[in-house]
Amino acid sequence: MEQYAIKGGNPLVGEVEIGGAKNAALPILAASVMTDETVYIDNLPDVRDTNVLLKAMQGIGVLEKRTGRHSVTLNAAQISSLVVEDENIKKIRASYYLLGALLGKYRQAEVALPGGCDIGCRAIDQHIKGFKALGAEVWIEHGLIKTRADKLVGSHIYMDCVSVGATINVMMAASMAEGQTTIENAAKEPHVVDLANFLNSMGARIKGAGTDVIRIKGVSRLHGSEYTIIPDQIEAGTFMFAAALTKGDITVKNVIPKHLESISAKLLEIGCEIKESDDAMRVVCSKPLRHTHVKTLPYPGFPTDMQPQITVALGLSTGTSIVTDTIFENRFKYVDELTRMGADIKVEGTTAIINGVGRYTGASLSAPDLRAGAALVVAGLAAEGFTMVDEIHYIARGYEDFHLKLQALGAQIELVNSDREIQKFKLKVG
Ligand code: EPZ
Repeated sequence: MEQYAIKGGNPLVGEVEIGGAKNAALPILAASVMTDETVYIDNLPDVRDTNVLLKAMQGIGVLEKRTGRHSVTLNAAQISSLVVEDENIKKIRASYYLLGALLGKYRQAEVALPGGCDIGCRAIDQHIKGFKALGAEVWIEHGLIKTRADKLVGSHIYMDCVSVGATINVMMAASMAEGQTTIENAAKEPHVVDLANFLNSMGARIKGAGTDVIRIKGVSRLHGSEYTIIPDQIEAGTFMFAAALTKGDITVKNVIPKHLESISAKLLEIGCEIKESDDAMRVVCSKPLRHTHVKTLPYPGFPTDMQPQITVALGLSTGTSIVTDTIFENRFKYVDELTRMGADIKVEGTTAIINGVGRYTGASLSAPDLRAGAALVVAGLAAEGFTMVDEIHYIARGYEDFHLKLQALGAQIELVNSDREIQKFKLKVG
């Protein structure tokens, strides 16, 4: 079983290039089935979730040509099936983006019920409500969500909660509906805006993405496009917190600083220095971390996908911090693992009360999901001695070359596959 072997204690120093945003890439890939013309996508992250989605798209007849590690051309003129049942597709959340995309173009789709990280109840009622408001029937049968419409007609849809996935799905289907759709209480995340920009580059007529009211005038066809995906806000944030935890000095390059505002605000509060330029952020941390309080919120609030990373940092701070996750109710499962490193954290429902302990000691840990897995690795890099992290397949869902990028910053981390390799690593790093 692949694991990360880590020897902590080195400050991480240097520059790291941030890749394309996974959570933008997934809906953009799905939306490329909405045209018969060829689509070229650049800055595509080479991570497990995007690769699983691409394979499922090939399975329904999408022609894919990799033009480089981070670029692909896709052509969906010869779709052979509207049933997406690839064996791996149910493991990823974004499988359901093919519902909105195929429903919009073909008025019909069947997709295996989505999985994704086990971080809480991940309802899909708002997706279903949106599709129904556009005139589609939606039902669940034999593990598939099925949807069909004789015609899709624009509608006024109020989302009962702010949902990234539902906003994206409805936006895709509505782009090819007849007439105008208004989505109220829409999600404002950068990846929602990126998808809207991509759809507009294909001829869609979407206005207001990035605000809580999105207006879409349906069009009858979409055309090909060349598009570059935005940088990954969460990958960048994870490296910024790695600088904080290891008392390092890291510059994240190829980022959009505006997307990182809530993250840098918290880093400043806990005592880091930040230098911002047009497309880079430098985080320097030389003092003991201070405590603070955090509440995760939809964008532009502090992202739930950064909650484990800030919690592991606050675990090392002076004083008591309170972190509340208002988005997912089960996203503190990694706290038991962190306790093995000496953290003093009590979880009550969706709130963690963190008494900073000043130091972690290395331990054997298991990654419970993608972001928590990355946060535990960073905790290991800050800890005294050796840390092992297993179940790292979760991390590969959303971080490209995670350990290689960390190594380039001076981290002592290696991907190991056997006891022998672990012993070799221990001998090497001493
Ligand atoms: C997206 O998940 C991301 N996934 C998640 O990133 C991210 O944590 C989440 O948005 C919040 O930012 C992808 O983009 C593939 P939601 P999604 O719909 O779309 C409730 C990562 O680590 N809700 O915005 O599934 C839901 O239960 C992953 O990269 C309903 O009640 O999230 C949750 O409490 C993990 N009904 C809240 O809304 C619905 O129909 C937000 O969920 C839909 C959602």
